[in-house]
Amino acid sequence: MRLIRLATLLFVFAPLATTAQDVATLTIDPSKIVANVSPTLYGIMTEEINHSYDGGLYAELVSNRTFQTSRGLSLENWTLIQKGDSRATIGIDRTTGPSAAIPHSLKMEVVSANPKAEVGFYNTGFWGMAVRASTTYRGSFYAKADSPAIGSLAIRLVNDKTGAVAATTTVTALTDSLRSYSFTLKTGALIPSADNHLEFLVQHPGTAWFSLISLFPPTYKNRPNGFRLDLMEKLVALHPAFLRFPGGNYLEGEHLNEHFEWKKTIGPLVDRPTHPTPWTYRSSDGLGLLEFLTWCEDLHMEPLLAVFSGYALNQDHIAAGKDLEPYVQDALDEIEYVTGSTSTRWGAERAKDGHPAPFHLAMVEVGNEEYHDPSGTYDARFAQFFKAIKQVHPELQIVASAPVTLVRPDILDDNDHALHTHFYRTAQQFFQDVHRYDTYDRSGPRILVGEWATREGSPTTDLGAALGDAAWMTGLERNSDIVVMASYAPLFVNVEPGGMQWPSDLIGYDALNSYGSPSYYAQVMFSNHLGDQIPASKLDTANPRLFESATLDSKTHHLFVKLVNASSMPQPVNLKLTGAARVQDKAALTTLGGNTAQETNSIKEPRRIVPRASMLSNVSATFTHTVPRYSIQVIDIGLD
Ligand code: AHR
Repeated sequence: MRLIRLATLLFVFAPLATTAQDVATLTIDPSKIVANVSPTLYGIMTEEINHSYDGGLYAELVSNRTFQTSRGLSLENWTLIQKGDSRATIGIDRTTGPSAAIPHSLKMEVVSANPKAEVGFYNTGFWGMAVRASTTYRGSFYAKADSPAIGSLAIRLVNDKTGAVAATTTVTALTDSLRSYSFTLKTGALIPSADNHLEFLVQHPGTAWFSLISLFPPTYKNRPNGFRLDLMEKLVALHPAFLRFPGGNYLEGEHLNEHFEWKKTIGPLVDRPTHPTPWTYRSSDGLGLLEFLTWCEDLHMEPLLAVFSGYALNQDHIAAGKDLEPYVQDALDEIEYVTGSTSTRWGAERAKDGHPAPFHLAMVEVGNEEYHDPSGTYDARFAQFFKAIKQVHPELQIVASAPVTLVRPDILDDNDHALHTHFYRTAQQFFQDVHRYDTYDRSGPRILVGEWATREGSPTTDLGAALGDAAWMTGLERNSDIVVMASYAPLFVNVEPGGMQWPSDLIGYDALNSYGSPSYYAQVMFSNHLGDQIPASKLDTANPRLFESATLDSKTHHLFVKLVNASSMPQPVNLKLTGAARVQDKAALTTLGGNTAQETNSIKEPRRIVPRASMLSNVSATFTHTVPRYSIQVIDIGLD
């Protein structure tokens, strides 16, 4: 009986063990360059999803600052405060507001209050408000009062659990005309936490109106209306070459009148009406077109500007021809806003918004995932956009978001033809498709992989997903003569309950902290070892889950060998560097790995799976190296 069991075990496990332990051979000839690496290969794709901007990158601490959700006017996240025996109400006044874009306000009617029984309202932030020690917070709001008798307004950051006031300031009496106020709140020594809210309090009866209430912590590069520091720093480490914006479904909108209308996202915040998104919540549009562009500027990313093509997610479309002309003109205006001199109408508008210098723009994508359009009108719509844009801007590369026949796009945003979506897959699906571009027709448009991700793990992806991603990236890299750009999606997720609409994301956060998924670190490793040339390489292995790519930095003479072992067994690899004059005997090794495919990072355990640096010695023209199970490695070899 025991013997039979043992025999069964050997039968089941022996072939797998033998297979994974077979020595693989990777032959690389650095003297034979087969193609150049696209310098724009790794970029990022972004849209308002999973509270990527509001409650994410956009550093605004106040949620629902203009009192409206996707369902309409609302005081969601605002609550009345009545201390002692004070009495008051808050509600929305639809007819009193600071602008045509925001024609409404929060109206507070105070029946009774006194210095010992204050009254007011508070905002809960995006699942709390991050408050840190010795920090200055900058706030603003619009307000008026029916009479100065209501007295001064106290503004306080208060800890939810202890009631401790982290920072406080006073705004002297409001006037009877609705005007803007600004204030600062400075914290002293305290333990950083997200358990805070923002209070507005008065001490006397009266009526007051408030709108566009805002509070910002210090932002990246101190930009007003700017971005969260920790998230920007994570993006810096990723070294993205381009930013594909503004989406995604977010570009299209659920209905035609809900698409990303860039003209409503520029200028002072008070002139931005906000809009409903397809991802269930309303966008404040604080992160609008100009902010996308300064984001590119700050991180040295090429903008890949997506323009609305006249197709919405509910499958309504605008027919090519006369009806589409205003949309084409809107795209031309948008390009002028980005690139025009200050003597042009929209270039002047950009200057008025604080950025006189034109932005660099080389690429425009028309629409998103247009293969979903059952009307079959994309071909004609794309041709109309293509011709109009090329006529004014022959220098621009135009990207088609689905295959077209009437004109030849410069770049095609490729999709998984079987799944009929962008490349959202399992690790196994990626393993099976790593050679997708090896035999791809080089005479057609160049390829953008505009959205891709291994969707394993939630809210952020796990190590198994990172292995799928890395395998896929080896295929992209080896073929980056044709695959000129690739952007993982989605980029961000707020991990708080209700924050996520799309499980499996790259970077997770709450109000206070953030972390990168194993997939994030896989991309950091690849994009930091991009190289500029692709040498001839060949992998001989019996392991179906071993993948490679090699690139060369022609300036520094460094060879970057990427190895992905997605199997549960260590994998010895015999590396043969043919044609290299001299190989330095020490090489830098970076490893991302773990014990299981399910191992992951989280907001509570943010650094469980991170790249580890070590050195390899005894490197030579031929050497054997064992890649640990479930691991991604980059070997950085100096060549003389
Ligand atoms: O990345 C999430 C969504 O997936 C995008 O909005 C859309 O383009 C795709 O279907």
